[in-house]
Amino acid sequence: MPSPQQTSQALASLVNHLTTAIVLVNARMDIIALNLAAENLFRVSTHQMHMEPIGTLLLLDPQLKQQLLHSSNYQQSFTSRDTEIQQANGHKLWVDLTVTPVDEQSSLALEIQPLARMKRLTQEARMTTQQQASSNLIRNLAHEIKNPLGGIRGAAQLLQRELNPSLHEFTDIIISESDRLRDLVDRLLGPQRQTQKQAYNIHQILDKIEQLLRAEAGSQVQLIRDYDPSLPELLIDANQMTQVLLNVGRNALQALVENQISDGIIRLKTRAVRRFTIGNVCHRLVCCISITDNGHGIAADLKEGIFFPLVTHRAQGSGLGLSIAQSLIQQHQGLIECDSQKGHTCFNIYLPMETLS
Ligand SMILES: Nc1ncnc2c1ncn2[C@@H]1O[C@H](COP(=O)(O)OP(=O)(O)O)[C@@H](O)[C@H]1O
Ligand SMILES: [Mg+2]
Repeated sequence: MPSPQQTSQALASLVNHLTTAIVLVNARMDIIALNLAAENLFRVSTHQMHMEPIGTLLLLDPQLKQQLLHSSNYQQSFTSRDTEIQQANGHKLWVDLTVTPVDEQSSLALEIQPLARMKRLTQEARMTTQQQASSNLIRNLAHEIKNPLGGIRGAAQLLQRELNPSLHEFTDIIISESDRLRDLVDRLLGPQRQTQKQAYNIHQILDKIEQLLRAEAGSQVQLIRDYDPSLPELLIDANQMTQVLLNVGRNALQALVENQISDGIIRLKTRAVRRFTIGNVCHRLVCCISITDNGHGIAADLKEGIFFPLVTHRAQGSGLGLSIAQSLIQQHQGLIECDSQKGHTCFNIYLPMETLS
């Protein structure tokens, strides 16, 4: 039989491992405790917040204040779904909020489940399914095109030997067009090389990208590096990661230069993010690499399909840059996502640093 002390330790540990943020307040609405998820969400510590009024964490509108007091006075719980709360620093969050009285002293437990995260996970799952379906289709189609192409090319070469040289221009067309089609199909099939991961400093790669972009942009665009120097080396394939960051960085540059944005800025930023879920795995620590530009943003009709192959808005574009970037990031068990509005387009790339066992 576990002792009462062991039971309460197990309970405390359980509460700390929940992904829902929990804030415990007394009847005077002073904070008694926060679990780890709440500390992460509000970026504060229990120690810092102990016995501080709830208003130092959340800006309570009159309605929420009323609901909390009612819940405390009458020992009744309530739930607000899909509701907006505002942090003391003004930052707004969409959440599901459940308030439950927990003892006779009218203390309350506030359970806060941020919805952006849930929405992101659902969206991510949907996108992955769609991408798997489309990449299967493309792979099958590519093989169906590639197989007869070899035959067509070979037959044209044989024919060429038999033909009068004055007719070679026609066989040359068949051969060169077959080669062009094979190249396209190869690019559609995506990177064939196995990922070779090694411990590597991501900032070294970003420096190289910055140099390349600077050389291409001249003085037209300002490039800003905003690195977290405390990041450890990551287990990555440096060549593949260079390709990813270059594809994304070049898009940002093209968005600024081709639209003649006069005060164009590209920001290359790295940060460590705690407790981040990619697919079904909750990582204790991930590295987030962001490439942000202040161009016009991604066209509305493109937004949904931006990572699909052959989706492009540029006359010279192949529409393969982002689809290749995404498949390379998936090979690193990472995630690439995009948030774009007029004047602010941000691609975030998340790479796991440590995995929760
Ligand atoms: N930073 C950005 N700003 C605006 N549009 C972008 C940005 N990045 C990508 N896009 C849009 O996404 C499309 C697809 O990009 P990509 O897959 O790299 O193919 P490509 O660059 O060959 O068109 C681009 O044509 C462009 O319209
Ligand atoms: Mg591109």
